[in-house]
Amino acid sequence: MTDAPDSPGRPRRQAGAAAAFDVAVIGAGAAGMMCAAVAGQRGRRVVLIDHARRLAEKIRISGGGRCNFTNREVGPANFVSANPQFSRSALSGYSPQDFIGLVRRHGIAWHEKHRGQLFCDDSSEQIIEMLRQECNAGQVAWRMPCEVRGILQEPEGYALDTSAGAIRATRLVIATGGMAIPQLGATDFGLKIARQFGLKVIEPRPALVPLTFDAAQWAPFAGLSGMAMEARVRTGGKKSGGDFLEDLLFTHRGLSGPGILQISSYWQPGEPITLDLAPGQSLEADLLAAKQGGRQQVATALGALWPRRLADAWLPAMAGQLPPDFGATRLADAPDRALRALAAGIHGWAITPNGTAGYKKAEVMRGGVDTAGLNQKSMEARAVPGLHFIGETVDVTGWLGGYNFQWAWASGVACGKAV
Ligand code: FDA
Repeated sequence: MTDAPDSPGRPRRQAGAAAAFDVAVIGAGAAGMMCAAVAGQRGRRVVLIDHARRLAEKIRISGGGRCNFTNREVGPANFVSANPQFSRSALSGYSPQDFIGLVRRHGIAWHEKHRGQLFCDDSSEQIIEMLRQECNAGQVAWRMPCEVRGILQEPEGYALDTSAGAIRATRLVIATGGMAIPQLGATDFGLKIARQFGLKVIEPRPALVPLTFDAAQWAPFAGLSGMAMEARVRTGGKKSGGDFLEDLLFTHRGLSGPGILQISSYWQPGEPITLDLAPGQSLEADLLAAKQGGRQQVATALGALWPRRLADAWLPAMAGQLPPDFGATRLADAPDRALRALAAGIHGWAITPNGTAGYKKAEVMRGGVDTAGLNQKSMEARAVPGLHFIGETVDVTGWLGGYNFQWAWASGVACGKAV
């Protein structure tokens, strides 16, 4: 046992038997620590188990090391889920203001970046330390690093076979997160346990992740790697689609940046994404206006209205959809129809990714334990009394911008109050 433990906890010992607790929480990340602290401070005997050597690696690396710990405005609309309304109860039971209050009580300085995103002034380590202290205030017992080899349901609760010995608990909380960044110890443990107990799992996928394209299709744009610009990005229909106006970034293999990460959580394999690469502009009107008395070439005119590097890559890439050698055509000679087509292509570029950069580059996993099988107030499995799922393991995936942590805190608190 290393790293986290400060407190011995208060297990109930039966002669020759396993250490016994009211609650065992597996996964000492954002949701697990929050849940353990709340339950412990209510007087429950809680054990918190994690296989990692270092506590809460994802909090540590989050927000570029400053942890974007919540967002000022959080509601079900900021989450992707087969049932977005599921998150409402927990989110309203523990709001961003509640978490800000906790951060203030611990004297952690923070600031707001754009779009309501709140970050630590100094370091994400402060959030980890705050949660560790909250757990210790609840006399939570730590088992870390500790492997859970098997879980059995018993008449009075759950029996865990672990590398730190047998553990019994009346209630079991699974808070092992999602599969993003396996190099930091992320696993599909939560999904395996859900399936073991007969719960449905919504297909997991990497989310908040760069999108990739077929190498030949992307070749004309690969040279733009490193270029960032604002764009409107959409995918899917009105009901289940996404629509974001944010920055995107060209990469060697495809697209990244906040707008692309956001849309990746909505993107379905095989479907296109549609980009407006000149949001807020009317390129059609601008090009037609420039045509009046325009002695310059189309490429020069476009380069004056749009990033020059992009204009230079765009015209040859769209050659099949425009008149031959269109970039070199004098603007005055360019047919209106072709200028309209050029503008329409830029405002509505439909392109189909061939995949994502995968879990190694994803910030989160989408999908997970189907919320239809969980109680939204307690996070308890409807069909398996005493078994709870919280945090990213559950099919509730937040937008970029502090929403995933707010879900971890809120689902952790809801569960911590119920166990
Ligand atoms: P979390 O991943 O925090 O914790 C799970 C714990 O379970 C880990 O400690 C792990 O070791 C343990 N575990 C896993 N498998 C186990 C097993 N088999 N046995 C025992 N223990 C096991 N979100 C946000 O809101 N703002 C941000 O700034 C960022 N930034 C960010 C950056 C990067 C690079 C990533 C990868 C992710 C983010 N996120 C984020 C997302 C955020 O980190 C994530 O959604 C939450 O940490 C999820 O909290 P959980 O407690 O559910 O899982």
